[in-house]
Amino acid sequence: LQKKDFSRDEKLKNLCKYLSERVDYYNWVGFYFANHENRTLHLGPYYGAETDHTIIPFGKGICGQVAESNANFVVPDVSAQDNYIACSITVKSEIVIPLFVNGINIGQLDIDSHTLNPFTAADERFLEFVNHEVAKLF
Ligand code: SME
Repeated sequence: LQKKDFSRDEKLKNLCKYLSERVDYYNWVGFYFANHENRTLHLGPYYGAETDHTIIPFGKGICGQVAESNANFVVPDVSAQDNYIACSITVKSEIVIPLFVNGINIGQLDIDSHTLNPFTAADERFLEFVNHEVAKLF
């Protein structure tokens, strides 16, 4: 992705910043990484507002559900979700794409948007491609 004198975390943080600045409805972009021993997600590099949700148990919120389902989760309207962890009242929608390394779901790319229903299949295909590239860093 970038010159190899950047650490992986720096590359991922720069990627988050790039995505957020390039797409107007990508308002918070970050990675969570799974600890499969104690079934929790841990916040990794991100770009956007600070969040209190640095550790999320598997099953909790959109992110926690993706840790268990291993599938993309597109939420057009977060207010319609029961199992949702609000980071900010400005967030209207969310997309979470699992990150697979050698077939194992090691975490996810999480994007919050201030726009209602902005994510299309094109976002899913694009972000799957991004994660496919990110997986090469592991
Ligand atoms: N909304 C997420 C929590 C993480 S924040 O969006 C950064 C969820 O429901 O899992």
